[in-house]
Amino acid sequence: MNKPIVIGMIGLGTVGSGVMRLIARNAEQFLHKVGAPLVIKHVAVQSKEKERDLEVAPQVLTDNVEDILNDPEIDIVVEVMGGIEQAKQYVTKALQNKKHVITANKDLIALHGAELAQLANEYECDLFYEASVGGGIPIIRSLTHGLASDEINRVVGIVNGTTNYILTKMSQNHEDFGDVLQDAKAKGFAESDPSSDIDGLDAARKMAILSGLAFSTNIDLSDVHVKGIRHVSLEDIKYIQNLGYTLKLLGIGDRKHQKIEISVEPTLLPNSHPLASVHNEFNAVYLYGEAVGETMFYGPGAGSLPTATAVVSDVLEAAKNLRLGTTGRSYITPQYGKDLKSNAEMDRKYFFRILVKDKPGALAQITSIFAKHGISLERILQQPKSKSVAEVVLITYRSSYENYEEVFNEFEQLDVIDSILSSYRVEGEE
Ligand SMILES: NC(=O)c1ccc[n+]([C@@H]2O[C@H](COP(=O)([O-])OP(=O)(O)OC[C@H]3O[C@@H](n4cnc5c(N)ncnc54)[C@H](OP(=O)(O)O)[C@@H]3O)[C@@H](O)[C@H]2O)c1
Repeated sequence: MNKPIVIGMIGLGTVGSGVMRLIARNAEQFLHKVGAPLVIKHVAVQSKEKERDLEVAPQVLTDNVEDILNDPEIDIVVEVMGGIEQAKQYVTKALQNKKHVITANKDLIALHGAELAQLANEYECDLFYEASVGGGIPIIRSLTHGLASDEINRVVGIVNGTTNYILTKMSQNHEDFGDVLQDAKAKGFAESDPSSDIDGLDAARKMAILSGLAFSTNIDLSDVHVKGIRHVSLEDIKYIQNLGYTLKLLGIGDRKHQKIEISVEPTLLPNSHPLASVHNEFNAVYLYGEAVGETMFYGPGAGSLPTATAVVSDVLEAAKNLRLGTTGRSYITPQYGKDLKSNAEMDRKYFFRILVKDKPGALAQITSIFAKHGISLERILQQPKSKSVAEVVLITYRSSYENYEEVFNEFEQLDVIDSILSSYRVEGEE
């Protein structure tokens, strides 16, 4: 039998225990696929005394990460501890010690992925991170392998399960954001501090990773325009539903004439769009390729075993490379420098909900500002709210983001506008 592939894992929480279970459960299958057994020699944790719901031999568990990083027998390091700075130190040292690294850490990859990939290349090591986006959905390998022959110009994703769960429940049960958030925390779909999810940061990190791969360029987190769902009201949802749309926190990466834009924001999709029926904590990514057309990848975006499938598939790829002597050959320098679209080059369609003072000619003043900046209106609804104010709901046709900025500036000066209750991007009708 071939020499075992020896693994050291840092972290034994949700993902780490899934990895241990999956490697034990499918050991025979992996032996057949790799031609050598996979052996987990050490697992590093914070506390060896913590009660765990899976059995680990005492000699395997360690609270000293150096036992993994400095062990010459260990071929592959699996980083599933999370966090950024310490994880970066460990991954860096593992690569410098010529260990192949598998990570599920989107925060680490979104912030330091380019630097770590170059380090891996320098030390001729593999660095794989399939689980960092979409949990159990094999989206990264689909971009780098399955669709490598195509030119991908648009990536649209529901890549955060917590916010998708919240928006689904608000839409289905007509409950307020705050109530649904409490329920999501109780059911384990939201963390005790959910700000990175609900403010869009988690999705932005995943979109930075996906867009960088899809468009073969390095994307920084600051390149992603981000707006979360904290301010989405039940009233918004009801109007959106009445108009035949569904509200989703959508990540959109778009490239036109080599210029790109990336955003994460609550977005209206027509109910007929496939992403509109991705409910609860599920994730999905829609890709538009010049040759393939439209493809959609759907599945669990998190969870112990689903995420472990992605981590262990990466382990198998690194293990096969080790057997074949081809490790460290997968790094490709990005083909393009980064060229971001200007506001004038970004093209948008919007939904607005505006509280208007009940004065003669008020609606005409609002519509004339849109007309002045070249924005046509597709739908207008007006409904009295009280004796002194009415609510106006508008959907525009597409126009440049620069034009909308002018409209927003003029609205601020307009006396007949009481307040802009909400404004959301509208997509998916092309
Ligand atoms: N959970 C998911 O569904 C999911 C999905 C996709 C990606 N991810 C990513 O996967 C990673 C792990 O997530 P998780 O949910 O499994 O986290 P978790 O349940 O909080 O587990 C973290 C594990 O890391 C250990 N750990 C933390 N700091 C450590 C340190 N300094 N040295 C050694 N061990 C340390 C902890 O030890 P103790 O057990 O002793 O506390 C624990 O076992 C994160 O990057 C996350 O973003 C998670």
